Amino acid sequence: MLSPLTLARSGRVLRNRLVVAAMTNKQSNADGTLHDDELRWLARRAEGGFGIVTTCAAHVSPEGQGWEGELGVFDDAHIPGLRRLAGAIEGSGALSLVQLFHGGVRAPSSLTGQRPWSASSFSLPGEGFEVPRAASAEEIERTVEAFGAAAARCEAAGFSGVELHGAHGYLLSQFLGSRSNQRDDAWGGPSIERRARFILAALDAARARTSERFVVGVRISPEIEDIGVDLDESLQVARWLVEGGADFLHVSLWDAWKPSRKRPDSPKPLTTLFREALPEGFPLMIAGGIWTPAQAAEIMAQGADLVAMARAAIGNPDWPRQAAEPGFEPARPPFSPERLRQSALSEAFVDYMRRWPGFVTDGRPAAG
Ligand SMILES: Cc1cc2nc3c(=O)[nH]c(=O)nc-3n(C[C@H](O)[C@H](O)[C@H](O)COP(=O)(O)O)c2cc1C
Repeated sequence: MLSPLTLARSGRVLRNRLVVAAMTNKQSNADGTLHDDELRWLARRAEGGFGIVTTCAAHVSPEGQGWEGELGVFDDAHIPGLRRLAGAIEGSGALSLVQLFHGGVRAPSSLTGQRPWSASSFSLPGEGFEVPRAASAEEIERTVEAFGAAAARCEAAGFSGVELHGAHGYLLSQFLGSRSNQRDDAWGGPSIERRARFILAALDAARARTSERFVVGVRISPEIEDIGVDLDESLQVARWLVEGGADFLHVSLWDAWKPSRKRPDSPKPLTTLFREALPEGFPLMIAGGIWTPAQAAEIMAQGADLVAMARAAIGNPDWPRQAAEPGFEPARPPFSPERLRQSALSEAFVDYMRRWPGFVTDGRPAAG
């Protein structure tokens, strides 16, 4: 996990296999421009030795915003801040990626001033989501173009690449899901070919608007019950993403040791199923419950080339540097607010982490 990796097309060299996964942190300005707190938080992980540092999900168009304090990439006015951020991350030797995002049904009108839209009109269980309207073909085409334009802005700002957020039930996965996408035009319907068209078009747009040196990866969730994302279809989509020119595939698992819902008795872990679906040597990144070097090594032995960490990287900004020493055991939550502040989290981010069960000593209690 401490050995370098060269990404084939771009020729970019990662100093190791350790990745800071995208984390929403509520630290950007209300207009989507960079705040210094966001820069400090990410630059600190680059200093800590991670090979890739990914920004939070950043919205490619104003109506795609999912949370307050989210980074924006929908306007050239965002470029100066992005440039400072890329410089700070790359200046410490990490590869910098922006995660490109649109919330779809998860972009509330209270934030955007518009009724959310998605592939179809459907209702999500729980949490009080609004019922989205179905997008017109013209809106879809405009949003595909917005992904491309956002990627171009990231390259202009000096980022090494982007990761398209096709996971966790946001817009790109809403198009993939059979429940959330019941269109009967070229962008959806019963066949996965048509439901995958949006994510492949977004990839294509990002590739078309950037140079060969620019990295374009894609993050997906293999299974999402409430919107109908299915494991076998996800394995097929993964192969199409490779053919479509993705530089890496990032599979988000939340718990990389949990068996598939569809195949609970499969002797093969999900990481291995994706490894086997991809061409040999194609970079596979896995995230989900990885805390220790031993766990990272186990996931790599199952077939991952890159391991992404979110919660472990919050409390252990120097994880990669420390992992070079034998016997390193990363600290685990609950973390005190003081420790989190010392780890370059601002008050807004510490407060957000209080909502994650068991994470902050004075936050929401751990389940059970
Ligand atoms: C505070 C927080 C914010 C997150 N925000 C995002 C996000 O913006 N985009 C995304 O793809 N995943 C997001 N995630 C999910 C993580 O990237 C990761 O997949 C998940 O936390 C599981 O990894 P872990 O066990 O290492 O934390 C977030 C996770 C946390 C803890």
